[in-house]
Amino acid sequence: MAIVARLFYFCLMESLSEDIKNILGLQLPSDPRWVNLAALQLDEILTDHAYCEQKAATTCISLITKNPDKELLVEELAPIVTEEWGHFRMVIAELKKRDLKLGKQRKDVYVNNLLQFQKKDGSPQERFLDQMLIMALIEARSCERFKRLSEGLDDAYMRNFYRKFMESEAGHYTLFITLAEHYVDKKTVRIRWAEWLKYEKELMKEMEIRGDRIH
Ligand SMILES: [Fe+2]
Ligand SMILES: [Fe+2]
Repeated sequence: MAIVARLFYFCLMESLSEDIKNILGLQLPSDPRWVNLAALQLDEILTDHAYCEQKAATTCISLITKNPDKELLVEELAPIVTEEWGHFRMVIAELKKRDLKLGKQRKDVYVNNLLQFQKKDGSPQERFLDQMLIMALIEARSCERFKRLSEGLDDAYMRNFYRKFMESEAGHYTLFITLAEHYVDKKTVRIRWAEWLKYEKELMKEMEIRGDRIH
């Protein structure tokens, strides 16, 4: 992690003890029943989680190749690709321990719904901002879900397993917000971020609670 992100990360971790600031601005906590359902289908959760990590790595590669002129973005996201792929490998190893195969990718209702809110006819800067904020939002919600697993599972090993992911994703959330603010003025970022948080809240209210999905 480069210096800027590291600094933000440590500042963030300082305040993480306050219950992750209600999880990084998210306006609706996950339904408490979710972790109980997930505990019953942990094998399914692992497969879904593996694909979340794969998509995170793939998206970061894509962001790099689509924004080669953005030096800070290239520099900061290159190590995140490695980190996300490392997460993918950790989940694969966990599946293997359980004698499970990766299995097929599931439909990602949460992310597909988020994409609907993108400004498709917006300016290149508006589209870029939305890409950064979608990533920040997915990282924040993933962080929140990993926190629920790290606190709510009976198995101490798995609680610790998810705690590591929770900490990483909190750092990624910060990085995407930092990148947004580096390339777009802060006020614009703040206004659009508030719109995204509101949209995500409504989306979470409507989505079915499923114990076989991270989101
Ligand atoms: Fe990750
Ligand atoms: Fe991440």
